[in-house]
Amino acid sequence: MFDYTGQNVVVVGGTSGINLHVAISFAQAGANVAVASRNADKVNSAVELLKQANPSGTHIGVSFDVRDENALAIGFATIAQTYGHIDVLVSGAAGNFPASAAKLSNNGFKSVIDIDLIGSFQVLKQAYPLLKRPKASIIQISAPQAYIAMPLQVHVCAAKAGVDMLTRTLALEWGIEGVRINSIVPGPIEGTEGFNRLAPSEALQQKVASSVPLQRNGQKQDIANAALFLASDMASYITGVVLPVDGGWSLGGASIAMTELGSLAAKHGL
Ligand code: COA
Ligand code: NAP
Repeated sequence: MFDYTGQNVVVVGGTSGINLHVAISFAQAGANVAVASRNADKVNSAVELLKQANPSGTHIGVSFDVRDENALAIGFATIAQTYGHIDVLVSGAAGNFPASAAKLSNNGFKSVIDIDLIGSFQVLKQAYPLLKRPKASIIQISAPQAYIAMPLQVHVCAAKAGVDMLTRTLALEWGIEGVRINSIVPGPIEGTEGFNRLAPSEALQQKVASSVPLQRNGQKQDIANAALFLASDMASYITGVVLPVDGGWSLGGASIAMTELGSLAAKHGL
């Protein structure tokens, strides 16, 4: 449905889960795709999948930790050398674990802020000079924790709220140059590290599904579909938007998370 032939797409944190699926979907739509994350083996495997998805595209992988400014600069220099410019940036590197605020160390809190929020800022700054202006599109992968308080998630709530304010602020600053930036907020997405960490049993995942107005947990393809749309010309007047793709889950305050995460804490002494 969408044609990205010849466009250069960079997916940071694009080597597993939701973001890898987004990267593969852009490749299937004809794009050249670069993926980046810390683990070199994951990076290499992801590039192989991109080649299978679109054998005629130019796909590369770069390894860096978004907390490491120098490594980021080297990675983006490789991207610049390969493509010259970026049409679409997807920024989705993140970390999460359940922990109560009282027991979470300052460094545990800081790690998630450093990856999700400061890491996202650093990625955006590195990509900015390479973005095709006008018409470049940026998509940040946020989370419902950005606007729904959840127990055991103080670090993620604080970090992702900041991520969405980056989206809104940069829509103002960079919109003038024709660069669009939006956040996608995935709901509970099946078969992912993030969902498995917060709902670590089939029974719990089923309970979450029944709390979603559309009565199912999400698929990675649901998020990829939204990304393909938001980065396309069909969305050329949409910027600064925080778009939940969650079957309506956040409308009900993601209430199952509150009760279930609370009992998870009690059970595991978090
Ligand atoms: N509960 C409480 N604290 C935890 C924790 C947990 N489950 N896991 C890590 N921490 C704390 C550590 O104790 C440490 O703090 P300390 O120095 O005071 O002891 C701090 O967080 C950093 O831990 P470390 O293991 O050094 O972090 P890292 O930089 O290697 O990894 C994480 C970052 C912790 C976010 C790790 O879970 C990760 O890499 N996640 C990426 C994948 C992921 O989370 N996917 C889900 C989708 S977002
Ligand atoms: P995932 O598979 O763990 O994806 C995280 C990605 O980020 C991986 O590629 C990981 O690769 C990379 N990464 C992590 N820390 C990094 C760092 N410091 N530097 C560079 N790369 C780093 O998790 P997921 O569940 O699919 O989540 C993907 C995104 O969706 C995240 O932004 C998450 O907050 C969001 N989200 C997920 C859900 C869900 O249901 N799963 C719901 C809402 C929001 P390396 O380990 O190689 O670094």
